[in-house]
Amino acid sequence: MREPNNNTPLSSPPLQSLYDYRDLASDRLSAMAHSYYMSGARDEITLRANREAWDQLWLYYQVLVNVEQLDVSARYFNTSQRSPLLVAPTAFHGLAHPQGELETARGAAQAGCVYISSTLSNYSLEEIAETSSGTRWFQLYVYRDREVTIDLIRRAENAKCQALVITVDAATIGTRERDRALQFHLPKHLTLGNFRGQTRGALGEAHQDSALAKYVREQLDPSLTWNDLEWLIEQTTLPVIVKGIIRADDALRAIQRGAAGVVVSNHGGRQLDTAAPTALALPAIVDAVGESSLIFVDGGIRRGTDVLKALALGADGVLIGRPILWGLTCEGSQGVATILDILRDELEESMKLCGCPHLREIGRHLLK
Ligand code: GLV
Repeated sequence: MREPNNNTPLSSPPLQSLYDYRDLASDRLSAMAHSYYMSGARDEITLRANREAWDQLWLYYQVLVNVEQLDVSARYFNTSQRSPLLVAPTAFHGLAHPQGELETARGAAQAGCVYISSTLSNYSLEEIAETSSGTRWFQLYVYRDREVTIDLIRRAENAKCQALVITVDAATIGTRERDRALQFHLPKHLTLGNFRGQTRGALGEAHQDSALAKYVREQLDPSLTWNDLEWLIEQTTLPVIVKGIIRADDALRAIQRGAAGVVVSNHGGRQLDTAAPTALALPAIVDAVGESSLIFVDGGIRRGTDVLKALALGADGVLIGRPILWGLTCEGSQGVATILDILRDELEESMKLCGCPHLREIGRHLLK
Protein backbone atom coordinates (compact mmCIF):
# COMPACT_ATOMS: atom_id res chain seq x y z
CA MET A 1 0.00 0.00 0.00
CA ARG A 2 1.30 3.48 -0.82
CA GLU A 3 1.80 5.95 1.99
CA PRO A 4 -0.36 9.04 1.75
CA ASN A 5 1.70 11.85 0.32
CA ASN A 6 1.02 15.20 1.91
CA ASN A 7 2.96 16.91 -0.82
CA THR A 8 0.54 15.80 -3.48
CA PRO A 9 -1.04 18.93 -4.93
CA LEU A 10 -4.76 19.33 -4.31
CA SER A 11 -6.71 17.93 -7.20
CA SER A 12 -8.65 21.19 -7.50
CA PRO A 13 -6.67 24.14 -6.18
CA PRO A 14 -8.76 27.16 -5.12
CA LEU A 15 -9.59 29.62 -7.85
CA GLN A 16 -7.67 32.76 -6.92
CA SER A 17 -7.49 35.04 -9.90
CA LEU A 18 -9.60 35.88 -12.92
CA TYR A 19 -7.15 33.81 -14.95
CA ASP A 20 -7.97 30.70 -12.90
CA TYR A 21 -11.63 31.20 -13.84
CA ARG A 22 -10.63 31.71 -17.49
CA ASP A 23 -8.73 28.43 -17.56
CA LEU A 24 -11.52 26.44 -15.90
CA ALA A 25 -14.16 28.03 -18.11
CA SER A 26 -12.07 27.21 -21.17
CA ASP A 27 -12.24 23.52 -20.21
CA ARG A 28 -16.00 23.66 -19.74
CA LEU A 29 -17.31 25.72 -22.65
CA SER A 30 -18.22 24.20 -26.01
CA ALA A 31 -15.76 25.01 -28.79
CA MET A 32 -18.27 27.39 -30.37
CA ALA A 33 -19.06 29.26 -27.14
CA HIS A 34 -15.37 29.47 -26.26
CA SER A 35 -14.54 30.91 -29.65
CA TYR A 36 -17.38 33.43 -29.44
CA TYR A 37 -16.46 34.70 -25.98
CA MET A 38 -12.70 34.75 -26.41
CA SER A 39 -12.16 35.88 -29.97
CA GLY A 40 -11.25 39.29 -31.31
CA ALA A 41 -11.33 40.76 -34.78
CA ARG A 42 -8.96 39.57 -37.53
CA ASP A 43 -5.39 39.19 -36.15
CA GLU A 44 -6.57 39.98 -32.59
CA ILE A 45 -3.92 42.67 -32.25
CA THR A 46 -6.22 45.04 -30.35
CA LEU A 47 -7.50 42.18 -28.21
CA ARG A 48 -3.94 41.58 -26.98
CA ALA A 49 -2.93 45.25 -26.92
CA ASN A 50 -5.86 46.21 -24.67
CA ARG A 51 -4.49 43.88 -22.01
CA GLU A 52 -0.84 44.76 -22.52
CA ALA A 53 -1.38 48.53 -22.43
CA TRP A 54 -2.36 48.35 -18.76
CA ASP A 55 0.88 46.43 -18.04
CA GLN A 56 2.93 49.18 -19.69
CA LEU A 57 1.78 51.74 -17.11
CA TRP A 58 4.02 51.75 -14.03
CA LEU A 59 2.89 52.81 -10.60
CA TYR A 60 4.75 55.44 -8.56
CA TYR A 61 3.18 54.56 -5.21
CA GLN A 62 3.05 56.77 -2.13
CA VAL A 63 4.05 55.62 1.35
CA LEU A 64 3.18 56.50 4.93
CA VAL A 65 -0.43 57.38 4.32
CA ASN A 66 -3.02 56.11 6.77
CA VAL A 67 -5.01 53.55 4.76
CA GLU A 68 -6.64 51.73 7.64
CA GLN A 69 -10.14 52.85 6.56
CA LEU A 70 -10.74 52.26 2.89
CA ASP A 71 -13.72 53.35 0.81
CA VAL A 72 -14.22 51.98 -2.70
CA SER A 73 -17.89 52.79 -3.07
CA ALA A 74 -18.96 54.68 -6.20
CA ARG A 75 -22.05 56.66 -7.20
CA TYR A 76 -23.68 56.81 -10.63
CA PHE A 77 -26.94 58.66 -11.30
CA ASN A 78 -27.51 59.12 -7.57
CA THR A 79 -27.30 55.41 -6.82
CA SER A 80 -24.53 54.15 -4.61
CA GLN A 81 -22.56 51.07 -5.71
CA ARG A 82 -20.19 48.92 -3.69
CA SER A 83 -17.31 49.49 -6.11
CA PRO A 84 -16.44 51.21 -9.41
CA LEU A 85 -16.78 47.87 -11.26
CA LEU A 86 -19.69 47.40 -13.68
CA VAL A 87 -20.74 44.30 -15.57
CA ALA A 88 -20.20 45.09 -19.26
CA PRO A 89 -22.89 44.24 -21.78
CA THR A 90 -22.01 40.94 -23.45
CA ALA A 91 -24.29 38.72 -25.51
CA PHE A 92 -25.71 35.21 -25.14
CA HIS A 93 -25.11 34.23 -21.52
CA GLY A 94 -27.13 31.09 -22.19
CA LEU A 95 -23.97 29.69 -23.75
CA ALA A 96 -22.30 29.84 -20.33
CA HIS A 97 -25.14 28.80 -18.01
CA PRO A 98 -28.70 27.47 -18.45
CA GLN A 99 -30.04 30.44 -16.43
CA GLY A 100 -27.90 32.82 -18.48
CA GLU A 101 -28.44 36.52 -17.77
CA LEU A 102 -30.67 35.76 -14.77
CA GLU A 103 -27.64 34.35 -12.98
CA THR A 104 -25.46 37.24 -14.15
CA ALA A 105 -27.98 39.73 -12.76
CA ARG A 106 -28.10 37.90 -9.42
CA GLY A 107 -24.31 37.77 -9.20
CA ALA A 108 -23.91 41.46 -10.01
CA ALA A 109 -26.54 42.36 -7.38
CA GLN A 110 -24.78 40.15 -4.81
CA ALA A 111 -21.52 42.02 -5.47
CA GLY A 112 -23.30 45.39 -5.37
CA CYS A 113 -22.40 46.30 -8.95
CA VAL A 114 -24.33 47.68 -11.92
CA TYR A 115 -25.36 45.08 -14.52
CA ILE A 116 -25.59 46.39 -18.08
CA SER A 117 -27.65 43.79 -19.91
CA SER A 118 -27.21 43.41 -23.67
CA THR A 119 -29.83 43.80 -26.38
CA LEU A 120 -28.60 40.35 -27.44
CA SER A 121 -29.41 38.55 -24.18
CA ASN A 122 -31.00 35.10 -24.09
CA TYR A 123 -33.44 36.19 -21.37
CA SER A 124 -35.56 39.29 -21.88
CA LEU A 125 -34.84 42.53 -20.10
CA GLU A 126 -38.13 42.11 -18.20
CA GLU A 127 -37.12 38.64 -17.00
CA ILE A 128 -33.78 40.05 -15.89
CA ALA A 129 -35.54 42.91 -14.07
CA GLU A 130 -37.81 40.47 -12.25
CA THR A 131 -34.96 38.44 -10.86
CA SER A 132 -32.55 41.23 -9.96
CA SER A 133 -32.46 43.32 -6.82
CA GLY A 134 -29.54 45.36 -8.13
CA THR A 135 -29.01 48.36 -10.40
CA ARG A 136 -29.57 47.59 -14.07
CA TRP A 137 -28.70 49.57 -17.19
CA PHE A 138 -29.66 48.50 -20.70
CA GLN A 139 -27.32 48.32 -23.69
CA LEU A 140 -29.04 49.29 -26.91
CA TYR A 141 -28.18 48.34 -30.46
CA VAL A 142 -29.90 50.63 -32.94
CA TYR A 143 -31.96 48.55 -35.37
CA ARG A 144 -32.64 49.57 -38.96
CA ASP A 145 -36.31 49.48 -37.96
CA ARG A 146 -36.68 52.50 -35.69
CA GLU A 147 -39.91 51.15 -34.20
CA VAL A 148 -37.98 48.16 -32.89
CA THR A 149 -35.42 50.51 -31.39
CA ILE A 150 -38.01 52.76 -29.75
CA ASP A 151 -39.85 49.73 -28.42
CA LEU A 152 -36.66 48.52 -26.72
CA ILE A 153 -36.18 51.97 -25.16
CA ARG A 154 -39.74 51.97 -23.78
CA ARG A 155 -39.32 48.48 -22.42
CA ALA A 156 -36.06 49.46 -20.70
CA GLU A 157 -37.78 52.48 -19.15
CA ASN A 158 -40.74 50.37 -17.97
CA ALA A 159 -38.41 47.74 -16.53
CA LYS A 160 -36.77 50.49 -14.42
CA CYS A 161 -33.37 50.37 -16.03
CA GLN A 162 -31.49 53.41 -14.78
CA ALA A 163 -29.57 54.26 -17.95
CA LEU A 164 -29.25 53.40 -21.64
CA VAL A 165 -25.87 52.47 -23.05
CA ILE A 166 -25.94 52.95 -26.81
CA THR A 167 -23.27 51.04 -28.71
CA VAL A 168 -21.95 53.08 -31.63
CA ASP A 169 -18.99 51.03 -32.85
CA ALA A 170 -21.00 48.43 -34.75
CA ALA A 171 -21.66 49.99 -38.17
CA THR A 172 -20.79 46.49 -39.28
CA ILE A 173 -19.50 43.51 -37.36
CA GLY A 174 -15.75 43.10 -37.05
CA THR A 175 -14.80 39.73 -38.49
CA ARG A 176 -13.85 37.21 -35.86
CA GLU A 177 -12.20 34.57 -38.00
CA ARG A 178 -12.45 31.92 -35.28
CA ASP A 179 -16.26 32.34 -35.29
CA ARG A 180 -16.41 32.33 -39.06
CA ALA A 181 -14.41 29.10 -39.19
CA LEU A 182 -16.82 27.42 -36.76
CA GLN A 183 -19.89 29.02 -38.38
CA PHE A 184 -20.96 30.40 -35.02
CA HIS A 185 -24.68 30.10 -34.26
CA LEU A 186 -26.85 29.56 -31.21
CA PRO A 187 -27.83 26.02 -30.21
CA LYS A 188 -31.47 25.16 -30.95
CA HIS A 189 -32.74 25.86 -27.42
CA LEU A 190 -31.45 29.47 -27.33
CA THR A 191 -33.01 32.54 -28.89
CA LEU A 192 -32.79 36.28 -28.31
CA GLY A 193 -34.91 36.80 -25.20
CA ASN A 194 -35.87 40.34 -26.17
CA PHE A 195 -37.44 39.13 -29.43
CA ARG A 196 -38.81 35.73 -28.44
CA GLY A 197 -41.22 34.32 -31.00
CA GLN A 198 -40.09 36.77 -33.71
CA THR A 199 -37.84 35.98 -36.67
CA ARG A 200 -35.65 38.77 -35.28
CA GLY A 201 -35.09 36.52 -32.27
CA ALA A 202 -33.52 33.61 -34.13
CA LEU A 203 -29.82 33.04 -34.57
CA GLY A 204 -29.75 29.29 -34.90
CA GLU A 205 -29.00 28.80 -38.57
CA ALA A 206 -25.46 27.76 -39.42
CA HIS A 207 -24.27 28.99 -42.80
CA GLN A 208 -21.02 30.14 -44.45
CA ASP A 209 -20.28 32.79 -41.83
CA SER A 210 -21.00 33.53 -38.18
CA ALA A 211 -24.78 33.77 -37.77
CA LEU A 212 -24.21 36.89 -35.65
CA ALA A 213 -22.32 38.56 -38.50
CA LYS A 214 -25.30 37.93 -40.77
CA TYR A 215 -27.70 39.17 -38.08
CA VAL A 216 -25.79 42.41 -37.52
CA ARG A 217 -25.58 43.09 -41.25
CA GLU A 218 -29.31 42.50 -41.71
CA GLN A 219 -30.72 44.10 -38.57
CA LEU A 220 -28.49 46.87 -37.24
CA ASP A 221 -28.39 50.32 -38.80
CA PRO A 222 -25.13 51.20 -40.59
CA SER A 223 -26.45 54.67 -41.50
CA LEU A 224 -26.43 55.92 -37.91
CA THR A 225 -25.06 59.47 -37.44
CA TRP A 226 -24.64 62.05 -34.69
CA ASN A 227 -28.07 63.47 -35.61
CA ASP A 228 -29.62 60.05 -34.97
CA LEU A 229 -27.88 59.90 -31.62
CA GLU A 230 -29.33 63.28 -30.70
CA TRP A 231 -32.75 62.09 -31.82
CA LEU A 232 -32.44 58.92 -29.70
CA ILE A 233 -31.42 60.93 -26.65
CA GLU A 234 -34.56 63.04 -27.14
CA GLN A 235 -36.74 59.91 -27.20
CA THR A 236 -35.96 58.82 -23.66
CA THR A 237 -36.20 60.05 -20.11
CA LEU A 238 -33.17 57.91 -19.21
CA PRO A 239 -29.61 59.20 -19.19
CA VAL A 240 -27.70 57.95 -22.23
CA ILE A 241 -24.12 56.73 -22.22
CA VAL A 242 -22.38 56.30 -25.56
CA LYS A 243 -20.24 53.18 -25.80
CA GLY A 244 -17.45 52.53 -28.27
CA ILE A 245 -15.61 55.86 -28.22
CA ILE A 246 -11.86 55.97 -28.78
CA ARG A 247 -11.29 59.61 -29.89
CA ALA A 248 -11.46 62.78 -27.79
CA ASP A 249 -13.36 64.72 -30.48
CA ASP A 250 -16.01 61.98 -30.67
CA ALA A 251 -16.34 61.95 -26.89
CA LEU A 252 -16.86 65.69 -26.89
CA ARG A 253 -19.44 65.42 -29.68
CA ALA A 254 -21.37 62.80 -27.72
CA ILE A 255 -21.52 65.06 -24.66
CA GLN A 256 -22.44 68.11 -26.75
CA ARG A 257 -25.31 66.12 -28.30
CA GLY A 258 -26.70 65.38 -24.84
CA ALA A 259 -25.06 62.15 -23.66
CA ALA A 260 -24.50 61.82 -19.93
CA GLY A 261 -21.24 59.99 -20.46
CA VAL A 262 -19.15 57.70 -22.63
CA VAL A 263 -17.55 54.30 -22.45
CA VAL A 264 -14.04 54.41 -23.85
CA SER A 265 -14.11 51.07 -25.62
CA ASN A 266 -13.06 49.27 -28.76
CA HIS A 267 -15.59 46.50 -28.08
CA GLY A 268 -13.02 44.28 -26.39
CA GLY A 269 -10.93 44.15 -29.57
CA ARG A 270 -13.84 42.54 -31.43
CA GLN A 271 -14.57 45.21 -34.02
CA LEU A 272 -11.74 47.15 -35.73
CA ASP A 273 -8.45 45.34 -35.39
CA THR A 274 -5.47 47.61 -34.63
CA ALA A 275 -7.86 50.12 -33.02
CA ALA A 276 -6.02 51.95 -30.24
CA PRO A 277 -5.91 50.19 -26.85
CA THR A 278 -8.30 51.83 -24.42
CA ALA A 279 -5.62 52.59 -21.80
CA LEU A 280 -3.92 54.77 -24.41
CA ALA A 281 -7.12 56.42 -25.61
CA LEU A 282 -8.51 57.25 -22.18
CA PRO A 283 -6.34 60.23 -21.03
CA ALA A 284 -7.11 62.49 -24.01
CA ILE A 285 -10.82 61.76 -23.62
CA VAL A 286 -10.72 62.63 -19.92
CA ASP A 287 -8.89 65.87 -20.75
CA ALA A 288 -11.42 66.79 -23.46
CA VAL A 289 -14.61 65.93 -21.59
CA GLY A 290 -13.73 67.13 -18.10
CA GLU A 291 -15.31 66.22 -14.81
CA SER A 292 -18.97 66.99 -15.49
CA SER A 293 -19.67 63.81 -17.50
CA LEU A 294 -19.20 60.16 -16.66
CA ILE A 295 -16.32 58.35 -18.32
CA PHE A 296 -16.06 54.59 -18.21
CA VAL A 297 -13.49 52.34 -19.81
CA ASP A 298 -13.27 48.65 -20.70
CA GLY A 299 -10.88 46.28 -22.42
CA GLY A 300 -8.40 43.88 -20.89
CA ILE A 301 -8.96 44.82 -17.25
CA ARG A 302 -8.01 41.68 -15.33
CA ARG A 303 -6.33 42.90 -12.11
CA GLY A 304 -7.03 45.40 -9.36
CA THR A 305 -3.96 47.33 -10.49
CA ASP A 306 -5.57 47.69 -13.95
CA VAL A 307 -8.68 49.13 -12.29
CA LEU A 308 -6.56 51.51 -10.22
CA LYS A 309 -4.68 52.67 -13.35
CA ALA A 310 -7.96 53.31 -15.19
CA LEU A 311 -9.17 55.42 -12.26
CA ALA A 312 -5.80 57.18 -12.07
CA LEU A 313 -6.18 58.18 -15.73
CA GLY A 314 -9.55 59.72 -14.87
CA ALA A 315 -12.18 57.01 -15.41
CA ASP A 316 -15.23 57.03 -13.11
CA GLY A 317 -15.59 53.26 -13.37
CA VAL A 318 -14.56 50.22 -15.39
CA LEU A 319 -16.62 47.64 -17.27
CA ILE A 320 -15.74 43.97 -16.95
CA GLY A 321 -16.70 41.76 -19.89
CA ARG A 322 -15.15 38.36 -20.57
CA PRO A 323 -14.20 37.56 -16.93
CA ILE A 324 -17.89 37.76 -15.97
CA LEU A 325 -18.59 35.05 -18.55
CA TRP A 326 -15.81 32.91 -17.06
CA GLY A 327 -17.31 33.28 -13.58
CA LEU A 328 -20.77 32.53 -14.93
CA THR A 329 -19.53 29.40 -16.70
CA CYS A 330 -17.75 28.05 -13.63
CA GLU A 331 -20.16 28.87 -10.80
CA GLY A 332 -23.24 30.72 -12.06
CA SER A 333 -24.25 33.77 -10.04
CA GLN A 334 -21.74 32.92 -7.31
CA GLY A 335 -18.97 32.92 -9.91
CA VAL A 336 -20.07 36.31 -11.24
CA ALA A 337 -20.07 37.74 -7.72
CA THR A 338 -16.70 36.16 -6.96
CA ILE A 339 -15.09 37.67 -10.07
CA LEU A 340 -16.28 41.11 -8.96
CA ASP A 341 -15.20 40.47 -5.35
CA ILE A 342 -11.72 39.31 -6.40
CA LEU A 343 -11.23 42.45 -8.47
CA ARG A 344 -12.54 44.64 -5.66
CA ASP A 345 -10.19 42.96 -3.16
CA GLU A 346 -7.28 43.45 -5.55
CA LEU A 347 -8.25 47.10 -6.03
CA GLU A 348 -8.34 47.59 -2.26
CA GLU A 349 -4.90 46.02 -1.91
CA SER A 350 -3.44 48.28 -4.58
CA MET A 351 -5.09 51.35 -3.05
CA LYS A 352 -3.49 50.53 0.30
CA LEU A 353 -0.10 50.02 -1.30
CA CYS A 354 -0.46 53.26 -3.29
CA GLY A 355 -1.46 55.33 -0.26
CA CYS A 356 -5.00 56.07 -1.48
CA PRO A 357 -7.75 55.41 1.08
CA HIS A 358 -10.50 56.80 -1.20
CA LEU A 359 -11.19 56.58 -4.91
CA ARG A 360 -10.90 60.37 -5.22
CA GLU A 361 -7.26 60.23 -4.14
CA ILE A 362 -6.35 57.99 -7.08
CA GLY A 363 -4.87 60.30 -9.71
CA ARG A 364 -2.35 60.66 -12.48
CA HIS A 365 0.39 61.47 -9.98
CA LEU A 366 0.54 57.70 -9.37
CA LEU A 367 1.57 57.17 -13.00
CA LYS A 368 3.89 60.21 -13.22
C1 GLV B 1 -21.61 41.52 -29.67
O1 GLV B 1 -21.79 42.63 -29.29
C2 GLV B 1 -20.33 40.96 -29.95
O2 GLV B 1 -19.31 41.67 -29.84
O3 GLV B 1 -20.27 39.77 -30.29
